Amino acid sequence: MISKIGLIGYGKMGSSLALGGIKSGAIRKESMIVYDQDRERTNVAEKFGLKVASSLAEIFESEALILAVKPKDLPALLQDNRSKIVEKSPLLISIVAGIRVKHMLSFLGNAPLRVIRVMPNIAAAVNEAMSAFYANEFVNKDDVAFVESLLSSVGKSIRIESEDELDTITGISGSGPAYFALMMNILEKVAVDKGLSEDMARVLAAQTCRGAATMVLSGGCSPLDLIKMVASPGGTTEEALRVMDAKGFSEIVGEAVSAAIEKSRRMNRP
Ligand SMILES: NC(=O)c1ccc[n+]([C@@H]2O[C@H](COP(=O)([O-])OP(=O)(O)OC[C@H]3O[C@@H](n4cnc5c(N)ncnc54)[C@H](OP(=O)(O)O)[C@@H]3O)[C@@H](O)[C@H]2O)c1
Repeated sequence: MISKIGLIGYGKMGSSLALGGIKSGAIRKESMIVYDQDRERTNVAEKFGLKVASSLAEIFESEALILAVKPKDLPALLQDNRSKIVEKSPLLISIVAGIRVKHMLSFLGNAPLRVIRVMPNIAAAVNEAMSAFYANEFVNKDDVAFVESLLSSVGKSIRIESEDELDTITGISGSGPAYFALMMNILEKVAVDKGLSEDMARVLAAQTCRGAATMVLSGGCSPLDLIKMVASPGGTTEEALRVMDAKGFSEIVGEAVSAAIEKSRRMNRP
């Protein structure tokens, strides 16, 4: 049973995971301690009632350590604190994109530490995240149960057996909220340009996005079925889809998402 959780990096993703986990009851507020080099961020954590570590040394006392810094900051964080981390041997939970377990452990002298790599997404803040995780060979059942309960408390979670799949998952669901946000932003802009209020435009776009997702997730239809259900022959939806098709919308989106996946693959090659 993991009862002391340290979080390094209280930024957009780290705070979303912590707040989501606490709101849902998977993490007790008292069992979490956070550290961030940015004082403004730790002030926010303190206001929420979280314990803030005064130094990194304090956070290494944790049984599980969530690493939520940017990829560029992880190597130094691990190398500079190598002896402390290896001595305490906490379960390391990395949400950092593009740094493989083997690469992480190389910064820690290749010590046989328990590591779980997670690719969550920002919707953890509202308990609607899509997360996938990969556990290395040293991880035990309790570690997996802890991570599964944390991730499923903030949304949906799947365990994967091949670390390579994390690149595709990063490009699909890690970055994905931004793709749908872009689509919502376009719908909002058009609505406002055509004379609707900003408030109305926002709810029209966002609720429509949620409704489409709920229809697919409920298992009632595939995305293609949904298109057929909405686009009646000679109607308005068909007209929009005709323009999208003529302008290469599907190719553009497909290429963009593949570029994100390739970027993750390149980041993963040290
Ligand atoms: N944002 C997403 O949607 C998303 C989705 C999936 C995965 N991720 C992953 O989550 C990780 C965090 O992303 P984010 O968007 O939350 O970044 P962020 O908002 O920039 O938060 C990272 C925080 O960590 C702090 N930090 C950096 N080095 C530190 C150190 N050595 N000790 C203590 N604090 C340190 C940063 O401080 P400074 O600002 O001073 O550098 C910053 O406050 C990334 O690795 C990313 O790949 C993000």
